[in-house]
Amino acid sequence: MNHGAQRDYQADIAFTFCVAVYGEQMFGLDMRFSSRLLLLGAVAVQAKYIVPGARWRDTENNLVNAHAGNVVFENGTFWLFGEYKVEGQEEGGGVSVYSSEDLATWTSHGLALEPISWHPFISPKNIIQRPKVVYSESTSQYHMWWHADNATYGRLLQGLAVSDTIAGPYRFVSAQAPMGNWSQDFGMFTDYKDGKTYALYSNGDSVEGRDVYLASYNKDITTLEEVVYRFDKFDLEAPSIVQTEHSYYALLSHKTGYRPNNVVAFRADSLSGPWSQPWIVAPLNTRTFNSQSGFTLRIAGTENTTYLYLGDQWDSNSLWESRYIWLPINIDDDKKTLQLEWHDVYDLDVKTGNWKSVEGTTYSAKDAITSGNAFKQEANFATDGVILTGIEGNDSTVAFQGIKGTGKPQWVSFYYQNTDDMGFGDQPGGSPDRIGGTWQLRRISSVVVNGKTESVETLYQRDTHKGIILSTPLQLTLDDGSNNTITVGGLYNGFHYKGADLDKIVIYPPES
Ligand SMILES: *[C@@H]1O[C@H](CO)[C@@H](O)[C@H](O)[C@H]1NC(C)=O
Ligand SMILES: *[C@@H]1O[C@H](CO)[C@@H](O)[C@H](O)[C@H]1NC(C)=O
Ligand SMILES: *[C@@H]1O[C@H](CO)[C@@H](O)[C@H](O)[C@H]1NC(C)=O
Ligand SMILES: *[C@@H]1O[C@H](CO)[C@@H](O)[C@H](O)[C@H]1NC(C)=O
Ligand SMILES: *[C@@H]1O[C@H](CO)[C@@H](O)[C@H](O)[C@H]1NC(C)=O
Ligand SMILES: *[C@@H]1O[C@H](CO)[C@@H](O)[C@H](O)[C@H]1NC(C)=O
Repeated sequence: MNHGAQRDYQADIAFTFCVAVYGEQMFGLDMRFSSRLLLLGAVAVQAKYIVPGARWRDTENNLVNAHAGNVVFENGTFWLFGEYKVEGQEEGGGVSVYSSEDLATWTSHGLALEPISWHPFISPKNIIQRPKVVYSESTSQYHMWWHADNATYGRLLQGLAVSDTIAGPYRFVSAQAPMGNWSQDFGMFTDYKDGKTYALYSNGDSVEGRDVYLASYNKDITTLEEVVYRFDKFDLEAPSIVQTEHSYYALLSHKTGYRPNNVVAFRADSLSGPWSQPWIVAPLNTRTFNSQSGFTLRIAGTENTTYLYLGDQWDSNSLWESRYIWLPINIDDDKKTLQLEWHDVYDLDVKTGNWKSVEGTTYSAKDAITSGNAFKQEANFATDGVILTGIEGNDSTVAFQGIKGTGKPQWVSFYYQNTDDMGFGDQPGGSPDRIGGTWQLRRISSVVVNGKTESVETLYQRDTHKGIILSTPLQLTLDDGSNNTITVGGLYNGFHYKGADLDKIVIYPPES
């Protein structure tokens, strides 16, 4: 995915090609990483919901563009750092920073680390991936670390930049080989009990590599000084650690480029181990709800401690449009288990640490009206035993009728199946398509409210395994009353005009 992919549909074809050409170098690449956070009492009036997989917009209505980074909590404010993805450019966009008091409303502060055209490590030609920021008590500065590399992933270093203020600008200091070794996907973790900071990094894709290291920093957090544990030969990446009162859980993904896979977790009483066997953290074949691990956030509120999974939903067609899958983590320290829970829409109070799933109203496929070649097909895995299929263009559509609305913007989740993956992960070699056809990242549906074709919403529907239903949200404004119609058709995705199969839609109450 890193080799000259464009933001057009050719990127996916290029993907297949690159796998063949670059082999494991390809899979080893980048992808994402880490963990931590301390929380006291935040001040926040909860007005907005957290909606995983939606287009998140900042207070200026731009897409939130901070991928595979971390969140630092300080004095009532959450600071989100992440890779800034420039439209039409895959890497080297620098590190962006946003602030929020509720983890749902984000204000942009621009670039915390700006690329410098002549610079050997932070030019637009460099890899500046998985940035993490931590405050160093002893230097009284904020330290930003990341996976620093050249365009072909030949350097495998860790970059350090510093700033006196949290939002930056950060000044480049060095790019280091941790204890002389390689470092690919980068993560960071600070133990809330003793304040000690650690790095997690995958050791590359060579036969000798394929390990993930957990190493401790010196007191200043200016260099790594000791390997605390080595996750040996699991060949994982995108590392993060979440800490509970009694346990540490390390979350890592497999290496499938920008495609999501089954994220796994390990548990330990102590960072130096022994660590448990890994297990899969989300329902099988959902590919971790179509996301990759990256960071985990511990929110110690006045009533509850809540743990959030901050995953990335990479969009290899247009990386700058990649989305965020942030979900509550369900941890049972007695049973030594950790699972991710899916919620279309949830309401998190960062002050108390309480969150609740928002209840919506369901409209089933079985009651929808079909037109053209769209039809209802038996599907024993669907909510009511049928799924809406054959959706294409403007002539073969489905309509959900009699929908109650409020006249205000409301989140609507579309439950869908899109089997264009051709059996990714199940076919020989895990190849998306073994007979040279076209694998596609997503279908795009058109969504029209009450026949108003002058405003067509675009619903991205990522590929799924067969029989796996996932949901993807849009914010729609329905008329006040119970006579709304939502019509779904198909838009061009670079290959065809098909919409994904639909199981149901769920309408959520407006944000207060
Ligand atoms: C914390 O935030 C409050 C309110 O914004 C501010 O008055 C105070 O100076 C801040 N304290 C520190 C240590 O930054
Ligand atoms: C990246 O670094 C490696 C190791 O120094 C080198 O072999 C490779 O040519 C470099 N790639 C680029 C694009 O400069
Ligand atoms: C460097 O990586 C290799 C391969 O995983 C490993 O054998 C070696 O112990 C590592 N050395 C250090 C200091 O991390
Ligand atoms: C939070 O704590 C209360 C009791 O203190 C409990 O009833 C509730 O289930 C907890 N969890 C959440 C997610 O609110
Ligand atoms: C479907 O209708 C929309 C809105 O009128 C239009 O933009 C789009 O081009 C049409 N698509 C096809 C395939 O005709
Ligand atoms: C409900 O909507 C349909 C289609 O938009 C319209 O034909 C019908 O007259 C409406 N019914 C009422 C009671 O408003």
